[in-house]
Amino acid sequence: MSERRPLTLHQLRAMHAAGEKIAMLTCYDATFARVADDAGVDVLLVGDSLGMVLQGHADTLPVTLEHMAYHVGCVARGRRRAWVIGDLPFASYHASVAQAVDSAAVLMRHGAQMVKLEGGGWTAPAVRALCERGMPVCAHLGLTPQSVHALGGWRVQGRDDAGAQRLVREARELAEAGAAMLVLELTPAALAAQVAQALPIPVIGIGAGARIGGQVLVLHDALGLAGARAPRFVRNFMADGGGIADALERYVNAVKSGAFPDESLHAFE
Ligand code: KIV
Repeated sequence: MSERRPLTLHQLRAMHAAGEKIAMLTCYDATFARVADDAGVDVLLVGDSLGMVLQGHADTLPVTLEHMAYHVGCVARGRRRAWVIGDLPFASYHASVAQAVDSAAVLMRHGAQMVKLEGGGWTAPAVRALCERGMPVCAHLGLTPQSVHALGGWRVQGRDDAGAQRLVREARELAEAGAAMLVLELTPAALAAQVAQALPIPVIGIGAGARIGGQVLVLHDALGLAGARAPRFVRNFMADGGGIADALERYVNAVKSGAFPDESLHAFE
């Protein structure tokens, strides 16, 4: 079992600088927070994916700031060591920088240590304002589920040259604005590796290959609950038997050792 003292942002930065992969997992309640924390998960992401896996919606758009605050509070009370990130939901930071500051403050008050927001250069002023006000930010590029309709569905991003160049440029912009972490979703592995090389901050991937600073999975997917709907890059960590705690330990070990994801199964090149 790993060290039980709460992780700090400085420690996460030091892990990254030392080449240690960061194991992130989504989490929505106190019990799973405790189990995942005990398994050695470094970062618990209270994702707005809860709109799909808990609430049964087709996408994340119906999730509200109140929903997020409730689940951030649940997770924050269950964790001991893991760093807690709260997702800013759809339309809670889109109108203005002031709205982003107010929304982030709600999640921080409920126990988030960092907030995550989706989007490219247009979010840079909000990222800068949040960081200046002491609220650490994780950016999110690639497939950004809150823009699923504009993106034409759940599609791999950055496949063409223009899209790839834009993604690298926006990643740099967000890091320069102060983002301390970046989630990269559903991109070619080579592009993700290029972004990770270009940035001083940890790049955490989901469907973005192995040559980056860490991985994140949706808890329910890691536990094999997505069934036939599981995206190709997902691994069912329950498949080798044992209980949930064993599965989450296997997830952490596989991320740390580089055994997950297996890039030969990564179809997005
Ligand atoms: O909401 C979420 O769970 C996420 C992950 C898929 C990265 O943003």
